[in-house]
Amino acid sequence: MTGDKHPVQRLLFTVHRPPMSKKRYLVTAALPYANGPLHIGHLAGAYLPADIFVRYLRLMGKDVVFVCGSDEHGAAITVKARKEDTTPRAVVDKYHAMLRDTFEKIGISFDIYHRTTEPIHHQTSQDFFRKLNENQEFLEETTEQYYDETVGQFLADRYIVGTCPVCANPEAYGDQCEKCGSTLSPNDLVSPRSMLSGSVPVKRPTKHWFLRLDQHEAWLREWINTGVADGKQLHNPRDWKTHVIGQCNSWLDQGLQPRAMTRDLDWGVDVPQEIPGSEGKKLYVWLDAPIGYISATKQWALDHGKDWETYWKSEDSALIHFIGKDNIVFHCLIFPAILKAHGGFVLPENVPANQFLNLEGRKLSTSKNWAVWVHEYCEEFAGQEDVLRYNMIKKMPEQSDSEFTWKGFQETNNNELVNNLANFVNRVLVLSHKYYGGVVPRIDPDITFNSGWETATTGQYNDELRLLHNKLQEMGAAIERYELREALRILMEISSAGNALLQFNEPWKTVKEAPEMVKVVMNLAIQYVAVLSVAARPFIPFSSDKLRKMLNLNPLQDNGDLLEALNELVEGNPVVPPQHALNAPEHLFSRIPDEVIEQQIAKLGGTVDGTGLTVDGASQQASPGKEAGSPVPPTEYRPMAETIQFDDFAKLDLRTGTILTAEKMEKSKKLLKLSVDLGFETRTILSGIAEHFTPEQVVGQQVVIVANLAPRVMMGIESQGMILMADNPEGKLSFVSPAAAWPNGMGVK
Ligand code: MF3
Ligand code: ZN
Repeated sequence: MTGDKHPVQRLLFTVHRPPMSKKRYLVTAALPYANGPLHIGHLAGAYLPADIFVRYLRLMGKDVVFVCGSDEHGAAITVKARKEDTTPRAVVDKYHAMLRDTFEKIGISFDIYHRTTEPIHHQTSQDFFRKLNENQEFLEETTEQYYDETVGQFLADRYIVGTCPVCANPEAYGDQCEKCGSTLSPNDLVSPRSMLSGSVPVKRPTKHWFLRLDQHEAWLREWINTGVADGKQLHNPRDWKTHVIGQCNSWLDQGLQPRAMTRDLDWGVDVPQEIPGSEGKKLYVWLDAPIGYISATKQWALDHGKDWETYWKSEDSALIHFIGKDNIVFHCLIFPAILKAHGGFVLPENVPANQFLNLEGRKLSTSKNWAVWVHEYCEEFAGQEDVLRYNMIKKMPEQSDSEFTWKGFQETNNNELVNNLANFVNRVLVLSHKYYGGVVPRIDPDITFNSGWETATTGQYNDELRLLHNKLQEMGAAIERYELREALRILMEISSAGNALLQFNEPWKTVKEAPEMVKVVMNLAIQYVAVLSVAARPFIPFSSDKLRKMLNLNPLQDNGDLLEALNELVEGNPVVPPQHALNAPEHLFSRIPDEVIEQQIAKLGGTVDGTGLTVDGASQQASPGKEAGSPVPPTEYRPMAETIQFDDFAKLDLRTGTILTAEKMEKSKKLLKLSVDLGFETRTILSGIAEHFTPEQVVGQQVVIVANLAPRVMMGIESQGMILMADNPEGKLSFVSPAAAWPNGMGVK
């Protein structure tokens, strides 16, 4: 009731908004390998952003199909089967079911979650292969490839390990070094060995089909940088993320080479039988997997009586791929080349890839169990799925790598979801019941009040509704630009403004003296909650459902609900009519106590559970590590342990020693069996460092051991002490040892 600025005019502005003019949208999220469960890196990288985008399109009444499925071929699967001592079929069945259920629990609203072992997918990808073959897109070439004579098998990509020519990592794969991120080919490896038998492989001739990527380089370069292909402006390259275009150009600048589209494997899609030389040959997994988007769409269309081709082949359809950054070249260069080589398909309108999410200062790592597993979260935090979603969005690695911490998770929950959103909703519902028996009051829109948008401004009912409209527009524009963190921030601004509306007008004080004004304020506050029930849906869908229930409004149809609200609000009309009866308030979010967070932190890096987690390599977090060499300081440090007294410390008997022998333990990936010279005696110590060091690397290493630790039997062997190690932000380990060569058995204090 004070001040004279008019908020509506002040907050009206224009935003850059890429045209959402396409008739229909086909949205894909990277098909995860069915070789392990889903972690928060996957969620933040591809699935959650895709889900938000799709839910928003549905709320805007767009025709959209959201497809995904399990990627069930390739070495990721067969390597896993070998490790679990089972068949590829058993691996994919187990993890497909697990992934599908996890996605559902965390609210990823795929229209179909398909799998690449389905016959329809095999047929679709074989048809693609035939067509490319007919179009003479392949070079058939016989090359010498590594062959493991002991198991009688060619060694594709991941089946061969050796020393990286770039960084000397002794565990580099045939296609990539995970330490320095270099893309490799098996021939680049120094002293290659077979993953299957450990033996030194020999070269043998084998024929493969190579896609002539070199012939696609020119148009790809033009299309990536200008959005023009075949003389048509297909998209505005300014709408693409710069890191995506950057990665493509760095590939293009190295020159595209013909790339083998077949493998000598026994698990995968067969090269069509009628093609001469097809025997024993399978399609390369990166040929078949993206075609999985097409077969998933086909299956969805069959199930729903739709036509899949309009989504893939008509110019007024937009194809959008959500992926993590390690999938960029496949989606921006190789798959577009495949689509073009086939002919008749649209090219992606955008590939809004995300970067990586780190966890508590380190890279996520499946093998070190440095991850938050979504299925475990859903069990341990049942009913709080939206809290994880909210946190993932807030920390989404949109333009650069970002970091999730449990402390941050707790703070965000307590400060934003509880103190801001839940508090606002609860106050509105409680007060409405208290003052008006839960019935939306009729109001006189000419009565003014204090606006919640800024102190000392006057609010007027219809203007404030138009303001809400503007905020929603702003939020939508951010989603359309794939700026989901920003969109979430705007959503929460609405909730903050709702709280401020109550705070600045204090209905609990003024309800007696100015009852008519309080009616306007409360009615408006109810409109805020109703707007939030729609606008929050892309981000926190479970809470959106709860809000609808509390408000006694129809469940959302996911078909233009937001558009309808916008159409009312822009006219200054409310979205909930007077006299509408509200339901009782329900619980929305609760505070998360310290203990819960501490427990989660303690769990990190702990023993691998029964799900048999191992192989990295799902879409987002798989590969390149930070550059080797200079240490990367953590952005957050693990919390300090509780204070101990000197006497506690004095109980430790730390001694210098030297590792005399080291050997791998059968049946254990983690343990090395060491004998350590302590001067006065030699100890046997089992140390969990096998994933960090080879036996050869540690022999002769001087170490510090906890010499008076009670012996412990592990895997039938008594371990007599513990080796001290220092870790780094990426979870690597380094020995702790005296700076000078020192006699063994000396005390460390
Ligand atoms: N499975 C791959 C990965 O996790 C992603 C495949 S995306 C698709 O890295 F386009 F090929 F489907
Ligand atoms: Zn390397």
